[in-house]
Amino acid sequence: MNLSLVPTSNDQNKIEMIRAQMPAVTRAVYLNTGTNGPLMKRAVDAITEFAHEELNNGRIGQPAFDRLLALVDESRALVAELLACDVDEVALTHNTTEGMNIALLGLDWRAGDELVTATSEHEGGLNPAALLKARYGVNVIYTDIGLCDCDPVFSLQRALSPRTKAVVLSHVSWTTGAVLPMRELCEMAHRVGAFVICDAAQACGMVPSRVDELGVDLYALSGQKWLCGPDGIGALFIRREVMPKIQNTFSGYFALKQRVARSDAEIEFGETAMRYQYAFHYFPALLGFNEGLKWLRDEIGWEWIYQRTRELGCYAYDELSKLPNVKLYMPRAEIAGLVHFSVDGIAPADLTARLYEKNVLIRHVPEPLLNRVATGFFNNEQDVMQLCNAIRAVSGENA
Ligand SMILES: Cc1ncc(COP(=O)(O)O)c(C=O)c1O
Repeated sequence: MNLSLVPTSNDQNKIEMIRAQMPAVTRAVYLNTGTNGPLMKRAVDAITEFAHEELNNGRIGQPAFDRLLALVDESRALVAELLACDVDEVALTHNTTEGMNIALLGLDWRAGDELVTATSEHEGGLNPAALLKARYGVNVIYTDIGLCDCDPVFSLQRALSPRTKAVVLSHVSWTTGAVLPMRELCEMAHRVGAFVICDAAQACGMVPSRVDELGVDLYALSGQKWLCGPDGIGALFIRREVMPKIQNTFSGYFALKQRVARSDAEIEFGETAMRYQYAFHYFPALLGFNEGLKWLRDEIGWEWIYQRTRELGCYAYDELSKLPNVKLYMPRAEIAGLVHFSVDGIAPADLTARLYEKNVLIRHVPEPLLNRVATGFFNNEQDVMQLCNAIRAVSGENA
């Protein structure tokens, strides 16, 4: 496959086909998949049809329930395939934050245990860590991992100790775009006996997420960002060997070996990750999630998606770097689909708002305060040019 800056005509046809499936990306310059990816027609059609079936035929009866359970199984199998893990190691969640809470709260924490994380992490990881501090007296260590002038390996090495119970980091940083060398970091954490709980909200669907290669112990992801799925569906990978160490914080329909415990003898938790799955999902959305994953896998291809996303990220990086008043934040080699930058003399929130007026959708992030562009596989080179032209225009208006 040639993913040069000028795509081949085959790639060009494919990009047109993709964009026709995702109308939102043709109505605006859609550069904010880091918040929510664009939906695809195929998924929304499936959701709508299912919703109407429920409206007309109801949501009850054994066949309806069997269909729902089959959908749950299919979602878990699709996620397992994407992560290259066993289906028994996947629990469906509603989003990344839920997965991070299940993971972090599941460990057996004692006062003085240490948790290593980073100031650039998302609330979805930082706030459960804060809860552990408040509830158990866990010592939370905030590193500068993910920031541009930090060597993550050196920084983690310095922060680890025999008391470190967990390392909580994002595979791809939402505030800087850094793609962390997870394998190396995991090996270091494992050497001191710590578990690695990885926030994959910005990674899954953007960069390869084979958990065996990454070495992570737990990997929490969202459907609504780089997987372009509906809201309310996510997943958590829990490595089989780690499962005995992760207690259930929630317990519900799928938790126990026997469906329900009405006596002490029946309290036996399940052996697969299903046991962490305590509630049902909105089933039309589950169907939409599955349809979307199959479309991405079968008609676009994960490898193509990862390469195209990174290629466009680098293209955006290069084009932005030609603007005299733009400063790029991360080194180019350390990013994939998220590009962070600042524009001299224009506050990030102001730039986001003024680009919005020009139909260019980006965002700004705190800590470090920057603008952020997300390049999805559905974007094209013209989107990047329109972004640059819009920044030029806003800078001109400011002059
Ligand atoms: C790195 C990271 N983690 C977690 C989240 C929260 O995701 P969710 O809403 O799926 O819990 C986000 C959302 O932007 C994120 O960027």
